[in-house]
Amino acid sequence: MTILVTGGAGYIGSHTVLALLEAGNEVVVVDSLVNANAESLRRVCALAGRHVPLERGDVRDRAFMETVLRRYGCTAVVHFAGLKAVGQSVAEPLDYYEVNVAGTVSLLQAMRASGVRSFVFSSSATVYGEPQVLPIPENHPFAPASPYGRSKAMVEEILADLAGSEAGWHIATLRYFNPVGAHESGAIGEAPSGIPDNLMPYVAKVAGGKLSHLRVFGNDYPTPDGTGVRDYIHVVDLAEGHVRALDHLAAGPGHFSVNLGTGRGTSVLELVAAFRHASNREIPCEIVERRPGDIAEYYADPALAGSLFGWQAKRSVREMCADTWNWQSKNPNGYDEA
Ligand code: NAD
Ligand code: WQD
Repeated sequence: MTILVTGGAGYIGSHTVLALLEAGNEVVVVDSLVNANAESLRRVCALAGRHVPLERGDVRDRAFMETVLRRYGCTAVVHFAGLKAVGQSVAEPLDYYEVNVAGTVSLLQAMRASGVRSFVFSSSATVYGEPQVLPIPENHPFAPASPYGRSKAMVEEILADLAGSEAGWHIATLRYFNPVGAHESGAIGEAPSGIPDNLMPYVAKVAGGKLSHLRVFGNDYPTPDGTGVRDYIHVVDLAEGHVRALDHLAAGPGHFSVNLGTGRGTSVLELVAAFRHASNREIPCEIVERRPGDIAEYYADPALAGSLFGWQAKRSVREMCADTWNWQSKNPNGYDEA
């Protein structure tokens, strides 16, 4: 099997490329490097002791994608490439629809023309919006609250239409909850450019002395300690979920959508306490106003991934913090100095 991984130099992509190699697959990566550094893939290759070609280019370029699919004889595509900043998507919606929606359609056309019909798509739990029930099952209605979330929901609908229109497609849509952590080696991890928006990378930079303190966005939510609760999932568990989903797709054509989460909620203050313990560093906190658009509590019902393809998240919040801290302390500036 040669798997084409789009966005394979990025955070989740790099961990998944490693997991795919470890499972015995050949991998080729397409990445424009708009939000990544090729050093991530060099490190993946060193960890696996294998070579992975990086084809630098854009998923919106259909002719280029067709050439890559044919040149390497790809049998399946795992599609991570896209834009993911929720706030930026409100300011620049057309960019988000062009890359995330039109880019995916163009890629699917390139696949169709090359006879490749196995596709794994990076969706997001954000498609559900404000939860009507917890834990959140896959049949929860969609109500995404941002152009980013709507771009993911639109692609999911396009994929359902495609699967219904033509036999022979094998399509998996994976809805990630909150991916965090890093490979246990500390060689690859999340390297956001600028000041992180998300909690875990922000906390890691406070512990590492790069930022002065964490602003906790609200402590008056209807949650046990008043701070927001999320379903953090270790990126290596997530990567293994992709390997399992691909194996399941290989068994026969079809279309399925599954949550990838742990099913457990962790509050902001619980995560900070776990990180303090893992790093043995101070993490000064200041309680500030709620962040507009935030939801009190969000966690998955992850049972379907277990029953469909035997996947279950194994790693604890403690390991998520320890592995993030290992990565942060070994690479205080991400891949920049490499
Ligand atoms: P990331 O930014 O680290 O990875 C995305 C990769 O795609 C980057 O390497 C970037 O250079 C590349 N890319 C972007 N636009 C491209 C284009 N037009 N052509 C080719 N390459 C392009 O992000 P990530 O956190 O690894 O996320 C991967 C996927 O998972 C994204 O689709 C994201 O929306 C989705 N997702 C992420 C999260 C999260 O919290 N990290 C949660 C749910 C879903
Ligand atoms: C987690 C908790 C914050 C930062 C976002 C996207 C979502 C998905 C994952 C892609 C919340 C609190 C955060 C800080 C804080 N991405 N917080 N201080 O908002 O669940 O999800 O990333 O699909 O679409 O919206 O994650 O890490 O930003 O926040 O107090 O400096 O931490 O209020 O309760 P979120 P997050």
